Amino acid sequence: MKITPVLLAAGQGTRMKSKLPKMLHKICGQPMVFYALDAARAVSTETPVVVVGHGAEAVQDAVGEAARFVIQEEQFGTGHAVMQAESLLSGGQTDLVLVTYGDMPLLRAETVQKLVAAQKANPGPMSLLTVIAEDPRGFGRIFRKADGTVAAIVEEAQADSSQLAIKELNVGAYCFRSEWLWAALKRIPLSPKGEYYLTDTVALAIEANLPVQAIVMDDMIETIGVNSRVHLAEAEAAMRQRINIGHMLNGVTMIQPETIYIEAGVKIGCDTILWPNTYLHGKTSIGEDCVLGPNSIIRNTKIGDRCKVLMSDLESAVLENDVDMGPFARLRKGAHLGNHVHMGNFGEVKDSHLSEGVKMGHFSYIGNAEIGANTNIGAGTITCNYDGEKKHPTTIGEDVFIGSDTMLVAPLTIGARSRTGAGAVVTKNVPEDTLVVGVPARAIKKLDKK
Ligand code: UD1
Ligand code: MG
Repeated sequence: MKITPVLLAAGQGTRMKSKLPKMLHKICGQPMVFYALDAARAVSTETPVVVVGHGAEAVQDAVGEAARFVIQEEQFGTGHAVMQAESLLSGGQTDLVLVTYGDMPLLRAETVQKLVAAQKANPGPMSLLTVIAEDPRGFGRIFRKADGTVAAIVEEAQADSSQLAIKELNVGAYCFRSEWLWAALKRIPLSPKGEYYLTDTVALAIEANLPVQAIVMDDMIETIGVNSRVHLAEAEAAMRQRINIGHMLNGVTMIQPETIYIEAGVKIGCDTILWPNTYLHGKTSIGEDCVLGPNSIIRNTKIGDRCKVLMSDLESAVLENDVDMGPFARLRKGAHLGNHVHMGNFGEVKDSHLSEGVKMGHFSYIGNAEIGANTNIGAGTITCNYDGEKKHPTTIGEDVFIGSDTMLVAPLTIGARSRTGAGAVVTKNVPEDTLVVGVPARAIKKLDKK
């Protein structure tokens, strides 16, 4: 049976008070519409159809190939929005149409799956999700007949006081028999607000004596819809907790998990320990047995096994295994630290490769450099890589000892096993096994090979 997801994402989101379309506001690092798309994809291999309107181009750009798009030029309600998909899906293109709203990011794939399964078993034309809750949040109310079967959805604006008291709410996820849906949409009456409500399809089915199946959910959290920035914060908090619980169940230890922020899609290996105020953003992956934080921000970075990162800021970097860094270290784009590198306090590395066993204990800047294995970078060392116009490279060999406060004026090469004296300003290439000192530095001695 062919099931095609249709995602409604054309609304303006007026209450967000934002220049950005509501669908692109991020929850745990990901535009909210992506969560609804993920859930849709989990239940169907058909490419989802996204109905876009406000900010259509921006939404299309963000979603890209992952969906087909139809445009709802003017927003005349959720029923009108679904009608826009008719040309793509009628005439036997699909058996079932699964409609969800793009502003409901916490709805789980498992729940959507239950909805689809219910409709597959339903002799009638549609099934929907409902939830029983004390706080109605402006949701439509589920009106049932005396025998307990669903009779209609009454929108809050149209409900009388007895209907307003109903605790069973319309979540906003439906599964329809395709051909019935297209015919029914044409018969929806215009609401007093001038909109065509998708929810009026329920009454149409009931009038025709066709059963509507309601699946009552028990987790209110899944139904959080985002209409304002207050809801956005609520949804973000719930999603953050869900992500953290997922990692803990996979073997990650978190000290004070409520202070730890991990974006969707981050990977963390078993027995890694996260201390408070650790932030893992974007395409970050962490290996096993690491200790991260407290107070670290790690973005788009790949970290191997057994690494330690204490109070540090890492961006677009790679750490191999057994790297130990911080407190107060900073890695910028293109920093690559090999196995067993040690980087202590107040160091900054950008576009540089530190080979296995390099030690850089204190107050250094390394940019556009290649550093050989087991070299020691003394306190206060700086690669002077920028001449005001261009960046220049520095290459340092293996087993080099760079003395404290050395200025390495690039472009520059320092041969293996050489040493620089404290405070040297090195402006010329240094051969292997050579000691240079002074300002500007000059060779004073050939060293015995180790
Ligand atoms: C809707 C339901 C309500 C349900 C609630 C759950 C209707 C008529 N009412 O109300 O029963 O309890 O969701 O959150 O469906 N959209 C379009 N085009 C439009 C209008 C809306 O694409 O012309 C999209 C919006 O972008 C949004 C979704 O449809 O993603 C829901 O629209 P919204 O206006 O938020 O409906 P609610 O008033 O929340
Ligand atoms: Mg809404």
